[in-house]
Amino acid sequence: MRKLIDLPEQNSEQALDQDQRNRPAKKSKGQTGQNMKHESAEKHVTGKAVYVDDMPEYPNQLHIAVGGSQHAHAKIKSIDLTSVRETLGVVDVITVHDVPGHVDIGPVFSGDPVLVEELCEYIGQPIFAVAADTMDIAKAAVAKAKIEYDVLEPILTVEKALEDKFFVRPTHQLVRGDAAKALADAPNRIQGHQHVNGQEHFYLEGQVCSVMPTEDGGMKVYSSTQHPTEVQKLVAEVIDVSINKVQVEIRRMGGGFGGKETQAAPLACIAAIVANKTRRPVKYRMSRTDDMVMTGKRHPFFNTYDVAFDEQGIMMGSNIMVAGNCGNSPDLSDAIVDRAMFHSDNAYYLNNTKVVGHRCKTHTTSNTAYRGFGGPQGVILGELMMDDIARHLGEDPLTIRKRNLYGIKHDHIRTADGEVDERNQTHYGQIVEDNVLPELIAELETTSDYWKRREEIKAFNANSPFLKKGLSLTPVKFGISFTVQFLNQAGALVHVYTDGSIHLNHGGTEMGQGLFLKVAQVVAEEFQVDLDNIQVSATNTETVPNTSPTAASSGTDLNGMAARDACLRIKAGMVKFAAEHYGSDGDKAQEENVRFDNNQVVIVKDSGAEEIIPFADFVQQAYMGRVPLSSTGFYKTPKIHYDRASGQGRPFYYYANGASVSEVLVDTLTGESRLVRTDILHDVGRSLNPAIDKGQIEGAFIQGMGWLTTEELKWNDKGRLMSNGPATYKIPAVGDAPFEFNVNLLKDRPNGEETIYRSKAVGEPPFMLGISVWSAIRDAVASLADYKYGAQMDTPATPECVLRSVQDTKDHVRANKEQKA
Ligand code: MTE
Ligand code: HPA
Ligand code: MOS
Repeated sequence: MRKLIDLPEQNSEQALDQDQRNRPAKKSKGQTGQNMKHESAEKHVTGKAVYVDDMPEYPNQLHIAVGGSQHAHAKIKSIDLTSVRETLGVVDVITVHDVPGHVDIGPVFSGDPVLVEELCEYIGQPIFAVAADTMDIAKAAVAKAKIEYDVLEPILTVEKALEDKFFVRPTHQLVRGDAAKALADAPNRIQGHQHVNGQEHFYLEGQVCSVMPTEDGGMKVYSSTQHPTEVQKLVAEVIDVSINKVQVEIRRMGGGFGGKETQAAPLACIAAIVANKTRRPVKYRMSRTDDMVMTGKRHPFFNTYDVAFDEQGIMMGSNIMVAGNCGNSPDLSDAIVDRAMFHSDNAYYLNNTKVVGHRCKTHTTSNTAYRGFGGPQGVILGELMMDDIARHLGEDPLTIRKRNLYGIKHDHIRTADGEVDERNQTHYGQIVEDNVLPELIAELETTSDYWKRREEIKAFNANSPFLKKGLSLTPVKFGISFTVQFLNQAGALVHVYTDGSIHLNHGGTEMGQGLFLKVAQVVAEEFQVDLDNIQVSATNTETVPNTSPTAASSGTDLNGMAARDACLRIKAGMVKFAAEHYGSDGDKAQEENVRFDNNQVVIVKDSGAEEIIPFADFVQQAYMGRVPLSSTGFYKTPKIHYDRASGQGRPFYYYANGASVSEVLVDTLTGESRLVRTDILHDVGRSLNPAIDKGQIEGAFIQGMGWLTTEELKWNDKGRLMSNGPATYKIPAVGDAPFEFNVNLLKDRPNGEETIYRSKAVGEPPFMLGISVWSAIRDAVASLADYKYGAQMDTPATPECVLRSVQDTKDHVRANKEQKA
């Protein structure tokens, strides 16, 4: 029984806190708060949406294939590319010696050579590139290379990297209070650990770019990237020209999920080097296998905890370690492991704690951003602790979770001054304001019938020897903002044309998440015109410069505000003009009596007489009156600051929250599991577009569930990725979605901060709702030990993994019995 979309009404009249002037009486079509379908929905489903690979090919265009290292760790002794070059149809072959400018294209820190000179650090690392008339020729030619290596011992596991202190960046820690003392003193203390595997992005459109040499040594680049500005800068650096010679454009991606934040740039750089050398247009599209082998993924993590708690299961102290497997280079790993550290509390108050984050180096591809950006790998540790504490005390995990939430006062817990502890400050010093989780969880508990179903499940399990049901409610509290402060800025450009149509451009990129639509809705709201008046154009570094990646879920928050700023500037000129222009015979109009209303401009004169002019006519008159009808806009997130040295500050403007309840059925003989029902209640503040937000929540949940259940990255002992295609790597299919899926938005909770119309970011936070599936599977297994034992369960919880947990649990029960006997 899948529910059809049942969406709450939003009151968009109240949508603006700031600038209540010029508000309408009637609504135009498509402004914020309404359910509008994705601007490209029809094009997506009819195949008419143009992606980079669909663009018309240039005559003369070359195609690239890259030859990569065959060893995870090796030095190149010699390279012989003679037969590669001699292949019919091959036009050029480049190595690092053909790079005119910078060789290192590391996005934040150095460590990523565009082509390897000597030291290879993962299987597939690019060594040379072949440019040929077709991709097939280029690929066939690559295979003819003769490369001799001095093979070195690779480091392939986090444990080994930890042992050798083999890191891509220094270890960092966050400390509050005295963890060691709290651990020593507390009445209860347990330890646990978990391997959390990585995840392939599996965007439907793989990595691709198309580049064309332009005048004056420049380059026009079409790149499927979340970060056009970074591609622009790195292309300029490798071909050794100034940034203004390179133009990067992207209309849409067929999914990015973080995998195109940094990973698109190497393709563009290689293509640009070839284009620069040959002066011919070049396309580089990776095959799915190359994409999976060569580009970075979600970081696998190895996490450990040592936690002390009182008789009620309230945490008193903890020692936490999160160790990210960063692969061979830093890429974004410093920020990713930071985010894991920030989120290891998930929604729970970590009293006296020490959180240590390691950035382990291994000889695998360099891991990168992926929806949640390290957050999920931290959050799951917090949830592991909650489940394990509950098993230790024989309590329901939901009870333990609720007791540990931020903002819950416990009379028996007092500060040194004897006050009841507010428990609302994170371990990095940020106050958890506008804390919706206690209410949100209470509501979901009721709507999902948690306690009744808990009893039913216990009864079912008591009578079912092999099939076991599991249930779990897990919350999410996710920090919104780039943790690197300067990235929290955005620009936009808005033009109003004389027929009243509006052109919108901003620095954000569209990857299916509905950003272009949401920002267009903001513009429709500002001018109170129908949404179809607004045309959004491709993201382009020449239109809006110096942009941040579309990432950290902040696309709408940042670009929506920047676009609004541009609108406000244009409107200010229009309103001034209207007040001056439409007064007659001493009957003047004040600026505050000019309003934009349902595709019209309404001017209320001092006498009370109204003048109503269709928007397009008004614009034409404003143009004749020489009013500027175009403006840039800019936004930077207020209030955020963070001092990494002390580990204190407010890295996040606000938190996005949600919770999910999942029920699973596990076959304890085969380890297979099935998701029966999921209920989600998620907080998007005042939604700009409930239909889009729900789509994000459903998609993110399923993607999170896939990460934790079926998607298994496997490397062999030489460091070769074995799960390198859809046959060996299983993403969720439609049949894996829960039989019953109830997704709701939290009502009447506008963002406590002044975000765009008080909405909240939605892209990443619901990814972590998938954790309830993993926890529910573990709950089903725990039924084998009367819910008194939390079995080891790494992720993904594949059938093999679940069977190991079942065995672990049975062994535990047997050992206990023997002890008692
Ligand atoms: N939704 C779709 N359909 N495709 C994507 O690639 N990426 C996710 C999320 N939702 C993604 C998506 C990630 S990782 C992020 S950070 C945000 O969208 C980015 O877009 P936003 O900031 O506009 O929400
Ligand atoms: N999230 C996503 N991408 C990023 C971040 C972040 O916090 N910092 C740098 N790139
Ligand atoms: Mo999303 S991982 O921040 O691109």
